[in-house]
Amino acid sequence: MEEIQKKRIFSGIQPTGVFTLGNYIGAIKNWNDLQKDFDCLFSVVDMHAITVRQDPTKLRQQILNSYALLLACGIDPDKSILFIQSHVARHAELSWVLSCFTQFGELSRMTQFKDKSARHADNINAGLFTYPVLMAADILLYQTDMVPVGADQKQHLELARDIAARFNSVCGDTFKIPEPYIPKTGARIMSLADPTKKMSKSDENPNGFVAILDEPDVIMRKFKRAVTDSDSIVRYSEGKDGINNLMAIYASVTGKSFDEIEREFDGKGYGDFKAAVGEAVSDALRPIRENYKRYSADKAYLENCYTKGAEMANKISFRTLDKVYKKCGFIKKPF
Ligand code: TYM
Repeated sequence: MEEIQKKRIFSGIQPTGVFTLGNYIGAIKNWNDLQKDFDCLFSVVDMHAITVRQDPTKLRQQILNSYALLLACGIDPDKSILFIQSHVARHAELSWVLSCFTQFGELSRMTQFKDKSARHADNINAGLFTYPVLMAADILLYQTDMVPVGADQKQHLELARDIAARFNSVCGDTFKIPEPYIPKTGARIMSLADPTKKMSKSDENPNGFVAILDEPDVIMRKFKRAVTDSDSIVRYSEGKDGINNLMAIYASVTGKSFDEIEREFDGKGYGDFKAAVGEAVSDALRPIRENYKRYSADKAYLENCYTKGAEMANKISFRTLDKVYKKCGFIKKPF
């Protein structure tokens, strides 16, 4: 019987700082679910991380920690290819070709570039500017069908689609055009301290974000302090940014609908609701914290996994790059 080819998924995460609840709900949790039915590649994108200055010793540690944390979150190296981006050189090679099919104007419009260059005004390097091209290369190198990301990556993904379509129209059909996979609930988890801002690991206020590895008492404290409004009814509606955010978090970790949540907290105040969200998050993260201790302590296992991941990703990556080089008019590599 002919085997049905599974659709391919690619996604990546930067190894900068701790992963937040936003990373977990917006991306990693969905990666975990998708790996059952799809042919998945997930990557710790270390090359993206050096677009802002990093301490090499710290970065090395963070790459390993991030890898261990993805394992702890349930990414299964027997089901998915889990690798470190810089171990597969064709990402950078394809990125160069794609940069010749990307317009300066397109990159100038990227909101993340504008934000990051404002935050790192002393180091607006070319890598920060061409970052979305490397991201397009990550995705297109594997003929990806779907890219599970949070809402903040939507613009980058649209650019990757435009670059692929342009290359295909100039050089002939080469790349699959990838579709975004953005969750309906939890695509944009907001800061607990300022619910008009995205939850981010680079937030100077540690009360704004929950780190995946935060201890239960810290998680409870952060939720108790979460900024809400002067109303007291737990209801999803316009203008209630803080409550809407807490409802999205609660819905994502418990699987309950907004209607169910509103009924559950009918007649109860914000205090009860915040405590329930804190507990639900703490419960959801507990096994991850425990698994992480185990994985991060086992350096030999980590090395084994990322070596296997790199070998598998490498094996797939040559197909697209060979095709691309041929279309560009390069002479076939002699070795
Ligand atoms: P990064 O490392 O900033 O974030 C990793 C993933 O987490 C999601 N995310 C969020 N989702 C919901 N609410 C939030 N507050 C929140 N914060 C972060 C992000 O949308 C992302 O899915 N450029 C990417 C990494 C990357 C990539 C790729 C992703 C490089 N190459 C190829 C997909 C495909 C980034 O910086 O993600």
